Amino acid sequence: MRKKIVAGNWKMNTNLCEAVELAKGIRERLSEVPSNVKLIVAPPFTNIESVEEILSGTPVAVAAQNCADHDKGAYTGEISAKMIASCGCKYVILGHSERRTYYGETSAKIVEKMKLAFAAGLGVILCIGENLDERNAGKHFEVTRKEIEDVLFNFTAEDMANVTVAYEPIWAIGTGVTATSAQAEEIHAHVRKVIASEFGEKVADEMTILYGGSCKPSNAKELFSCPDIDGGLIGGAALKPDDFIAIAKSY
Ligand code: PGA
Repeated sequence: MRKKIVAGNWKMNTNLCEAVELAKGIRERLSEVPSNVKLIVAPPFTNIESVEEILSGTPVAVAAQNCADHDKGAYTGEISAKMIASCGCKYVILGHSERRTYYGETSAKIVEKMKLAFAAGLGVILCIGENLDERNAGKHFEVTRKEIEDVLFNFTAEDMANVTVAYEPIWAIGTGVTATSAQAEEIHAHVRKVIASEFGEKVADEMTILYGGSCKPSNAKELFSCPDIDGGLIGGAALKPDDFIAIAKSY
């Protein structure tokens, strides 16, 4: 049985008070979440410790939204994988399209970050996905294949136990336009095949692949009912405990 995950990416939202309130709101409603669904929240760096404290003793794991591509030293403004792990984080999101697009994050950089994340004992949620032009040109299979090859193929089959892939079509992120369950499922199945081609069927079969992009309570059930969709990476709807928990309950 593959792990089912619903992860909330808070992005650059929530000041300290708001993050504390959001974490408490989620904690209060945890009894409603099916036991087979793992919840992860990814607050901004500045809120990680407080959120971790509120959620400690619960099954909710805390993730960072990014980490540095260096181990330590004179990199002003950067936060290392080890620092994140020392605050109690269990995961880090890497390769989000907002980082690739706005901060020039290349696959080579993501590989460096991933090595450091593994060395720090963090699981990685690797985001991939095509933009609207690529989708309209029918290149979505090719783009997602290349993103996986360029990053994951630098690692071993054993490493894959610490990887979760999130397919996030860029045209669906924050736009209110969700991929249809058929559009999402065909890429998820494709991603699984690409992973199988390098690491074997067993690894591919055990890989949790999340969907992200305007996932909300009204569409989560249909998306999560697809055979290759193992949960969601949720942005906007993760900022309200009611919506986040409702999505988790869609399983
Ligand atoms: P969204 O963001 O749910 O607000 O579309 C998803 C994401 O970027 O992870």
